[in-house]
Amino acid sequence: MSLYRILRPLLFTLPPETAHQLTLNGLRLLGAMGRPKTGAAILRQTVLGRDFDNPFGMAAGFDKNGDAISGVHRIGFGFAEIGTLTPLPQLGNPTPRVFRLTAERALINRLGFNNRGQMDALARLENWREKSPQARPVGVNIGANKEAADRIADYDIGAQRFAAVADYLTVNISSPNTPGLRDLQSGEAAGEIMRRVRAAAPDIPVLVKIAPDMSHDDAIGLAELARAENIDGLIISNTTLARDGVASSRRKDEAGGVSGAPVFDMATDMLRAVYRASGGKLTLIGVGGVSSAAAAYAKIRAGASLVQLYTGLVYEGPGLVTRMKSELAQMLRADGFSNIAEAIGVDARRADKGENVT
Ligand SMILES: Cc1cc2nc3c(=O)[nH]c(=O)nc-3n(C[C@H](O)[C@H](O)[C@H](O)COP(=O)(O)O)c2cc1C
Repeated sequence: MSLYRILRPLLFTLPPETAHQLTLNGLRLLGAMGRPKTGAAILRQTVLGRDFDNPFGMAAGFDKNGDAISGVHRIGFGFAEIGTLTPLPQLGNPTPRVFRLTAERALINRLGFNNRGQMDALARLENWREKSPQARPVGVNIGANKEAADRIADYDIGAQRFAAVADYLTVNISSPNTPGLRDLQSGEAAGEIMRRVRAAAPDIPVLVKIAPDMSHDDAIGLAELARAENIDGLIISNTTLARDGVASSRRKDEAGGVSGAPVFDMATDMLRAVYRASGGKLTLIGVGGVSSAAAAYAKIRAGASLVQLYTGLVYEGPGLVTRMKSELAQMLRADGFSNIAEAIGVDARRADKGENVT
């Protein structure tokens, strides 16, 4: 039994945001205590021009301000994504605004981009880079302030600020917790954001993070637009407004986005559809409901080059990353792959040939 199985009931007596802050503090300390271990060669690959020790990344929202990047790497993650960061600091919605749906292995959150603002994180990231030149990749997820007069301009500002320090940028137009933000996924607004971010950050990879609630056709349309605007890839997906997998929870009527196990199928199906439509020409990061090596492997086989998680970590603890790495390496070997890159999209390609992959 892992230590986290013993600690979790204690942690779960605390409000989710208190438990989260404690975890972040712990990771900050851990990050100062040494470097991450290099993983199995079979998990190593170059994606978006960066070297990844393994495909597992910390999803956005966990370390919004970039306080614990080294700690995130230290528990085994191959990369970290900080943010969402808005140009100006923002308090977010009133508390309570994060809820555990333990039986469903899910969370509902309506944080609303609470963060200390881009300038604060930028200073910390620059300082961290100087001290950790060889460190694993860090992505920066950018958003718009709730009260911004021109939300599209906020993405331009974020891209300019982080273009020199991020390994990649994520354009978050899919949070359900800033009213109207998801409207930016519509063709015209999305196209303008992509153009302006690409122009502001011409030398680093840019990805767009999308919601699992749009139709596959709309997601494929966004993917085509992304290619046309020289965007490198998509992150599929953010939290869902659907309540399908949580209908029996007493928390189901809390406003916000559902994350965790109930998102897995919808996010993976969308990922597969986009991969098939884009013929593997965009880099896809799969996120939503990953809490096992099997789930991560399914996303990779559906077309994800990299996989992120957040909620799985809340329920399974930090040891999950190490466990998933060794199990994923075994699964790849058992299927005859010599490197993870060979497994990306294999199920989607089989589906193209008419084989049944479900
Ligand atoms: C508490 C919480 C806060 C989040 N904040 C952000 C955020 O600021 N920006 C973002 O792009 N995604 C955010 N997300 C979404 C996650 O990055 C991820 O896309 C989603 O939770 C699905 O993955 P999971 O099932 O592994 O949690 C947040 C998720 C949670 C649970």
